[in-house]
Amino acid sequence: MRTIVITGTRKGIGKAIAEHYLAEGFEVIGCSRGNASIKHANYQHFSLDVSDEEAVIDMARAIRESHGKIDALLNNAGIASMNHALLTPGETVSRVLQTNVVGTFLFCREMTKLMRRSSAPRIVNFSTVAHPLNLEGEAIYAASKAAVESLTRILARELAELKITVNALGPTPIDTDLIRGVPPKKMQALINRQAITRLGEVRDVCNAIDFFLQAESDFITGQILYLGGVS
Ligand SMILES: NC(=O)c1ccc[n+]([C@@H]2O[C@H](COP(=O)([O-])OP(=O)(O)OC[C@H]3O[C@@H](n4cnc5c(N)ncnc54)[C@H](OP(=O)(O)O)[C@@H]3O)[C@@H](O)[C@H]2O)c1
Repeated sequence: MRTIVITGTRKGIGKAIAEHYLAEGFEVIGCSRGNASIKHANYQHFSLDVSDEEAVIDMARAIRESHGKIDALLNNAGIASMNHALLTPGETVSRVLQTNVVGTFLFCREMTKLMRRSSAPRIVNFSTVAHPLNLEGEAIYAASKAAVESLTRILARELAELKITVNALGPTPIDTDLIRGVPPKKMQALINRQAITRLGEVRDVCNAIDFFLQAESDFITGQILYLGGVS
């Protein structure tokens, strides 16, 4: 049975992709600051903040003892701050960077150590179309995901000798708590900048991740795949 670690599985996209991979027969190890919201024989949850280095190291140690190895890591946990830059407090800046950049980095570093015995080891990070679209009101969020993209490209090179592919997915807006505060007019204007002008859905995300996870995708690394025809 293949084992996949997914961060941010309490709600939103992370919960939905965890349920998708459970249905596909994977063993799923999830985490979030809150408690588990998934009950399944093949699901295990760690309650932690992805930017807490000691907690991430402890989680990796526990997985090594219980599972020995993992096959894939999906760095989904992320937060946004939708606000004009002049109105964004320093504390928000730190929280977004800690969660999106430091959390992604720590999971890549620690979970890579558990992938050596996998036949098709994979990392998929989460970006957003807010970065290539240079969305006003999302400066710190988009900048944090630009850093995630840079990490993705460099780790792809550093981890190639371990046969681990590292790619990133950039979803368009998807109806979750993350975007509920965006006014409808602003959201429609954003969607109108996509080639395909609709909201994204979890199935779009799962389809792209399925592709990265395939054994045949072992020559695809360091790539950023945006949904909806954004480039
Ligand atoms: N929805 C969109 O339109 C959209 C578009 C493009 C990209 N994305 C990206 O997709 C990913 C998921 O977004 P979403 O829409 O599903 O967001 P969401 O509904 O707000 O869910 C975020 C998830 O991450 C967890 N989380 C947040 N901070 C955490 C932390 N510090 N440590 C551990 N877990 C944490 C949350 O659980 P707890 O509260 O229990 O910690 C929750 O399960 C993010 O990386 C986001 O940037 C989303």
